[in-house]
Amino acid sequence: MSTDEQILGRTSRDDLRAIIALSNTDVDEAIHVVEDHAPAIFTWDYEKGRRPALNKLYEKAKHAQWNGETDLDWSIEVDQEHFAQMLSAMRQQQMETARVDFRGTPFQHWGQKEWLAHAMESQNWSLSQFMHGEQGALVCTAKIVETVPWIDAKYYAATQVMDEARHVEVFAKYLDTKLNGHYPINIHLRMLLDDIIDDSRWDMTYLGMQIMVEGLALAAFGLAMSTTPDPLLKQLLRYVMSDEARHVAFGVLSLKEHYSELTDAEMLERQEFAFEAAVRMRDRFLQQEVWERLGVDVKAAVKLFDAPPEVKNQDPFQQLLFSKIVPNCKKLGLLDANDGWLRKRFDTLGVTQFEDWADTGEEYLEMDAVTADRIAAEGA
Ligand SMILES: [Fe+2]
Ligand SMILES: [Fe+2]
Repeated sequence: MSTDEQILGRTSRDDLRAIIALSNTDVDEAIHVVEDHAPAIFTWDYEKGRRPALNKLYEKAKHAQWNGETDLDWSIEVDQEHFAQMLSAMRQQQMETARVDFRGTPFQHWGQKEWLAHAMESQNWSLSQFMHGEQGALVCTAKIVETVPWIDAKYYAATQVMDEARHVEVFAKYLDTKLNGHYPINIHLRMLLDDIIDDSRWDMTYLGMQIMVEGLALAAFGLAMSTTPDPLLKQLLRYVMSDEARHVAFGVLSLKEHYSELTDAEMLERQEFAFEAAVRMRDRFLQQEVWERLGVDVKAAVKLFDAPPEVKNQDPFQQLLFSKIVPNCKKLGLLDANDGWLRKRFDTLGVTQFEDWADTGEEYLEMDAVTADRIAAEGA
């Protein structure tokens, strides 16, 4: 059994100094190479539908394809500054309520202009990380096509590869044509994607990507969709989420079968990996690169805005991000295996409360916005 220090590479999970000591130093590299250490597997068993749930998902995916160029209204003008003003006002309100004391900090003399610039950079940063995460999903799922031994899973994964190409495409287009700047990939996100790709076991790709990264993305996109006033971004996220719900279902349905055959020791390795992924995903939300770009001392900023662990772990936004991951981990047996190893870790993150929320095995049927719009258009 590994210690938290061995898993995370730092003594305390909430050690801010250690978290921000890491940064992406390869910001000028044009490509990033990771060894994927995996055997490509052919199967000679072509019986379609041997795994009915995966077959159903595959048939659904064929009908739910959409076109990022023509199904979104790119003629919509996006007034980024106006949206950033709203965001900035909201943030200032929160800071007033929390009585954040700026005396003696880099923000002492910040006015509307500086906070507005911060809100705009924060939007650029968030959308950039969404885009990089989507490319991670594209590469991971292409790997699954090669490594999973079941034909129904290879078929489905092939449709997901197309979905992810579309997601990278639409986020990149939104950033290029509607916002005013890109950010390189955040180091904590990159470390997680590297770890997922590096692992030779086919199910680890699913666990890292479909359950953890996409589970969090589904919740994060949902929050972004409900808060953005921009109708183009709202529609973009709505369609992306309709695909993502299928992707998370693909992970749950595939791993359910595989995990029922694993030993306790093998399950523990999966639990440790899920915990590491959860912490890396939290680390990236510090947005350290935004402070750097604004010329603010990162340590001072992060320290000022980062609540102590006992407060942070009660933050509803932080917690909601785990609202898909926790029930799916429970369904897969990851929460309770080995005397509840992962449950105890999730308890300390304050997220176990979501364990009985709907898992994503079937939810994709309700979230199919693409089909719903087509039916509505036919009826109009
Ligand atoms: Fe995606
Ligand atoms: Fe996805």
